[in-house]
Amino acid sequence: MADALLSIQGLAAGTEDKPILHGVSLTLGAGETHVLMGPNGAGKSTLGHVIMGDPQYQVSAGSIRFKGQDITELSADKRSLAGIYLSYQAPVEVPGVPLFSFLRTIADKRPELKMPGRKFRARVAELAAQLDMDTAYLNRELNVGFSGGEKKKVEMLQLLLLQPSLAILDETDSGLDVDALSTVSRAMEAYRAECDGTLLVITHNTRILERLNVDRTHVMVKGRIVEEGDASLISRIDEQGFERYEREA
Ligand SMILES: Nc1ncnc2c1ncn2[C@@H]1O[C@H](COP(=O)(O)OP(=O)(O)OP(=O)(O)O)[C@@H](O)[C@H]1O
Ligand SMILES: [Mg+2]
Repeated sequence: MADALLSIQGLAAGTEDKPILHGVSLTLGAGETHVLMGPNGAGKSTLGHVIMGDPQYQVSAGSIRFKGQDITELSADKRSLAGIYLSYQAPVEVPGVPLFSFLRTIADKRPELKMPGRKFRARVAELAAQLDMDTAYLNRELNVGFSGGEKKKVEMLQLLLLQPSLAILDETDSGLDVDALSTVSRAMEAYRAECDGTLLVITHNTRILERLNVDRTHVMVKGRIVEEGDASLISRIDEQGFERYEREA
């Protein structure tokens, strides 16, 4: 395995009154593609949010290391600047903020993305074209009135623009029509290839995984990783479902 980019050990976390994750350990090597599967309510999104540092969840045990640094107590903002990106399962709408201004604001915080306005606009337009997005969307309020699929493309646009070292994609493929699905999976491949990024793909849709070169698959049930394997585990789950894990959990 490549050098560990992210290393999670014995992570227990939840909200103030609900423990959700119970001793999760997970290691992602640089440049690898990992898949996280599991039944509804297993804790997959929670894990994504806890890796990102979402303050609505508290860590009660264990640690998260990223690029060799313990980030368990680091704010979400700092984790983002350090190179972690989470694409939300349900992207939020931000009235009053045009998509383009939003992108400019997040880019301005990163020295590597500082560039003259015209060049930045051209870069964003190029990425929008890559995602089959009409550039008119750039002037619309962030996600307001966007369809489910359009919101997912906005998440991918941010990913391609920011080029984080670790991208956690939480059901970015759900609700996409067949054409959008190929566009988004091509964008995932582009991200992997262009910046040797690491992907943690949370999904229920095994079709998208046919297009990705998956290194490792993890199955989460009731807040625990119950099985790990290579890409062949995905087709096994497709055939057999999660029932046998749930009976044992
Ligand atoms: N902020 C919260 N407050 C209360 N309960 C929460 C919160 N976040 C998650 N939960 C609960 O924790 C459990 C795990 O939720 P989570 O969203 O992580 O599941 P999931 O594996 O992503 O499921 P799905 O496949 O349906 O997206 C669920 O029972 C959920 O209701
Ligand atoms: Mg979820």
